[in-house]
Amino acid sequence: MALPAHQPAAKGFPHGPVAFSLRKPQAADGAAIHRLIAACPPLDVNSLYCNLLQASHFADCCILAEGAGLVVGWISGYRLPVDPRTLFVWQVAVDPAVRGQGLGQRLLTALLARPGLGDITAIATTITPSNRASWALFQGFADSQGAPLRHDTHFDRERHLAGTQESEHLVTIGPLPTMRAAA
Ligand SMILES: CC(C)(COP(=O)(O)OP(=O)(O)OC[C@H]1O[C@@H](n2cnc3c(N)ncnc32)[C@H](O)[C@@H]1OP(=O)(O)O)[C@@H](O)C(=O)NCCC(=O)NCCS
Repeated sequence: MALPAHQPAAKGFPHGPVAFSLRKPQAADGAAIHRLIAACPPLDVNSLYCNLLQASHFADCCILAEGAGLVVGWISGYRLPVDPRTLFVWQVAVDPAVRGQGLGQRLLTALLARPGLGDITAIATTITPSNRASWALFQGFADSQGAPLRHDTHFDRERHLAGTQESEHLVTIGPLPTMRAAA
């Protein structure tokens, strides 16, 4: 059965400021997360099953935002298997209708402020050179933590991505302060 299309937040949103609530996901959120990601190019749309695993097995490293009863923000992540004190941020998605209000930054800050992630000393992610919003988001987070941001080509367009998409730069932010403010 095909999933219903993501309902853009703008359609269901009241005018004026909307309060967002941030929380850990659960499996029941998987379909809404899947639809949000599909509405947020250039993100890869992985399978719904992948989002279900993220929202259940990896819930401690993921966070979602709700506004007016809709899932409007999402970060998936996991601890790097070879370095569990580094949190790999897989995808960040904010509904187009509520971008530019600091929600992406709030999600990232709140995720890293979780007591269960207090031992995380660095975050890593990959960003394509043209994704200005993503660079600004992670640079803003690094600045807010007073932590250096380093980057280098990681997955090369020709060597790893079969010439089909832009190279992905590996971005590392750390060392992070041990006491991190909540969003
Ligand atoms: C990237 C994304 C998550 C940002 O969400 P957001 O809630 O709008 O981000 P914020 O409002 O917290 O803004 C964070 C920073 O990015 C900047 N920014 C936001 N959109 C921008 C854009 N289109 N171009 C340049 N800078 C941008 C903001 O000015 C802010 O910078 P500042 O801290 O210096 O003021 C959102 O644009 C998105 O979902 N994009 C599509 C999916 C994607 O590319 N995800 C990232 C890769 S995993």
